[in-house]
Amino acid sequence: MIAELLLQQADVDLTLAGRRLAKVQAVADELRQKHENRQISAIQVDAGDLAGLEKAFARADFVVVSSSTIEHTRFVAEAALKAGIGYFDHQPTSRDKIATLKSLKTRIIEAGCCFITEGGVIPGLPAMLVRYLAPRFDRLESAQVAFVMQDDKAPSPETLIELKTQWKQYQPLVFKQGTWQLAEQMVEFDFTESFGTKPCMACYLDELESLPKEIASLREVGFYIGALASNWFMRWVARPITSLIPTRSLGFRRLSARLLSWGIRFNPPPYLMMIMVEGRGWCNGESVFMRLRLSHPSSYFVTAASSVACLLQYLSQDIPPGLWYQADAVDDERMLSDLQRLGVKVEIETVASH
Ligand SMILES: NC(=O)c1ccc[n+]([C@@H]2O[C@H](COP(=O)([O-])OP(=O)(O)OC[C@H]3O[C@@H](n4cnc5c(N)ncnc54)[C@H](OP(=O)(O)O)[C@@H]3O)[C@@H](O)[C@H]2O)c1
Repeated sequence: MIAELLLQQADVDLTLAGRRLAKVQAVADELRQKHENRQISAIQVDAGDLAGLEKAFARADFVVVSSSTIEHTRFVAEAALKAGIGYFDHQPTSRDKIATLKSLKTRIIEAGCCFITEGGVIPGLPAMLVRYLAPRFDRLESAQVAFVMQDDKAPSPETLIELKTQWKQYQPLVFKQGTWQLAEQMVEFDFTESFGTKPCMACYLDELESLPKEIASLREVGFYIGALASNWFMRWVARPITSLIPTRSLGFRRLSARLLSWGIRFNPPPYLMMIMVEGRGWCNGESVFMRLRLSHPSSYFVTAASSVACLLQYLSQDIPPGLWYQADAVDDERMLSDLQRLGVKVEIETVASH
């Protein structure tokens, strides 16, 4: 999806790299039929093979890491640095990934490379949405971002294992009374008639850290995730079985992830991803509430669209060399208008009261 959108939106040639050549070759062949005037090729590369990565990157200008390969971040980043190319990933937020990339920051800057991490939607959009709201207030005092999604298409068991591993690191922190502190309770958000009002739990994202310093009027900021969908198979089959499976061995973890991945197909509609920011503050002496909602039937599409919207800003040379989070790197006005142009529904409502 990222490759297709990139070819539609930018003048680029692409090499699709994957550890199974037949799979990436089939996608490359399909793309070549639609985009005849582009150079589109496929190569076999395993993200755990440093020499293979170096060979692949020697012929590239930029790498988009769209695989569940957080454990290989150092190899991918080192190979990109050695080749002197740019880097983008939209993997889950991860302390290890961020620490690895930060340890390379000086070398990234010295090499004049542009590395963008924490791309996509979550991470990727929350801090950007707060920045979008801030200038619309004279004084923005509270900004709460909330996310919910329901899909019947599951990522691979390996991706689920990666997500589960990272999820364990997440902390329920929100910014309140001048400090990041543990959230005391779930908070309810209105996800329209699609999902109704859902209790959501706080989840700290690194990209939010700088917001209270940047927007001096902010008293409260947080990111919240709505309870994930469940279905009869998950409730009565997958979860009871997986709770009995020991998680110490990788084999058992794969088995458990396969069961959960299979169970996602029983999720009932609506299939929708929604992310919104609710801002409270003051404008012209009036108390103002503003809500900005982004939604789309496919969470995969929004991840691809957000990644491509960021890459378009890189390609137009609007992101200087250095190590960036997507949310910090992009111009929020352009990002939102590109997301809308690509097909993401954007709604904004404002209520003012004396
Ligand atoms: N930031 C966001 O908003 C956001 C949203 C969605 C997903 N994500 C993240 O994006 C990544 C991809 O997600 P997805 O849903 O596309 O997952 P997916 O459908 O499960 O695909 C994972 C891909 O990674 C490849 N892969 C795994 N290990 C590899 C290795 N050692 N070398 C090369 N390729 C390898 C797999 O190749 P094979 O086909 O050979 O198995 C597969 O193509 C994940 O890290 C996911 O958590 C982020």
